[in-house]
Amino acid sequence: MKIDPKKLIAAAAEARLGSVSPYSKFKVGAALLTKRGEVIGGANVESASYGLTCCAERIALFKALTDGRRDFVAVAVVARCDGGPMPCGACRQLLREYAGDAKVFIADSDDLKTIRKFTVKGLLPSAFVLVP
Ligand code: THU
Repeated sequence: MKIDPKKLIAAAAEARLGSVSPYSKFKVGAALLTKRGEVIGGANVESASYGLTCCAERIALFKALTDGRRDFVAVAVVARCDGGPMPCGACRQLLREYAGDAKVFIADSDDLKTIRKFTVKGLLPSAFVLVP
C-alpha cells in the first residue's frame, strides 16, 4: 500500500469543510487511510456543553470503525494554525488503540504542502493498553 501524504492531507482538508464548530470557530478535518486504500474523513463537532465536543480525529475514527474499517495505515489532520494541529491526548489514546501502526500527517490548512510527519506510537509512548 503506497501512502501519499499529500493526498491524505487533501482529504483531511476536504473533510474539514464539514466541521461544526460554532463556539471555537476552529475547524479541524481528519482523514484515515486503510490498508485497502479506503479513505474515511471526519471533522470536529462542538456542543453548547463544551465538554461534549468531539475532535475530528475521533469522529473519523468512530465513523471508520462503525463502518467496519480496520487496518489503518495513516491518518492526516488539518486546521488553520501554524504547523497544523497536533492531536489531543484523548485522540492519541484512541488512535493508539485502533490505529496503532499508522503514520500521522499534520498540516496547516493555509499551507497544505508543508506536512509534518509522526507515528501514532511516537505520539503516545507507554500507552495504556489492555490488549497489547
Ligand atoms: N480539535 C480537534 O478536532 N482536533 C484536535 O486535534 C485538537 C482540537 C477541536 C476540538 C474543538 O472543536 C476545537 O478543535 C477547539 O479545541
